[in-house]
Amino acid sequence: MLEVSNLEFSYDDGSPILKDISFSISKGERVALLGPSGYGKSTLGKIIAGHMNPDKGTVLLNNQKLSKYKGYKPIQLIYQHAEKALNNRWKIKDSLYEAWDIPVELLERMGINQSWLDRWPNELSGGQLQRISVLRALSPKTQLLIADEITASLDTITQAQLWNVVGDVLETNNTSLLMITHNESLAKRICSRIIQIESLCTCTCT
Ligand SMILES: Nc1ncnc2c1ncn2[C@@H]1O[C@H](COP(=O)(O)OP(=O)(O)O)[C@@H](O)[C@H]1O
Ligand SMILES: [Mg+2]
Repeated sequence: MLEVSNLEFSYDDGSPILKDISFSISKGERVALLGPSGYGKSTLGKIIAGHMNPDKGTVLLNNQKLSKYKGYKPIQLIYQHAEKALNNRWKIKDSLYEAWDIPVELLERMGINQSWLDRWPNELSGGQLQRISVLRALSPKTQLLIADEITASLDTITQAQLWNVVGDVLETNNTSLLMITHNESLAKRICSRIIQIESLCTCTCT
């Protein structure tokens, strides 16, 4: 249901970061995009999520461009650093419940304390904010979740707890996953297919 075709992209100042990238992800499928840093994984994630436009090529979700979807965007991207993802002028509860009607049970399983809800983003730690931003993105309206190194800066217990919840919710909603990571063992645990960025990338990467 996600179809990426012949993507090309370069930043203003240089040679192509992405060249002729094509792959697809089916409904409910979990795919890892694995590879060393600097190969354009995050750039590709942003393009698929519609945060940046490619120079060439197309990204289609259910045969439609993402820009055709009005309102809630069915492709959600979450980053390693949640600080950037949340609106600083919104209390935590407003960021969370604007996204979807989150069951209390999920807050508990994610280790989110009720007392955090009335706080501002700068009153939580990076790991706490990350749980909030992940839960926000797990709306049943999300058709593809792109997780860009989302647990790279978390301790292993929090990492496991977070991925357990994410895995269960994705399965319940039949949501697809593109997991961007350099952690191969984590990728194998969570995903059913692994794409090596080097195998997609025909340019000379730095
Ligand atoms: N905003 C930007 N402007 C210019 N170059 C960038 C920008 N963001 C990333 N790059 C460069 O693009 C390349 C790929 O970066 P990135 O997509 O972050 O790779 P990865 O996620 O695989 O580490 C790197 O060489 C990086 O320095
Ligand atoms: Mg990256």
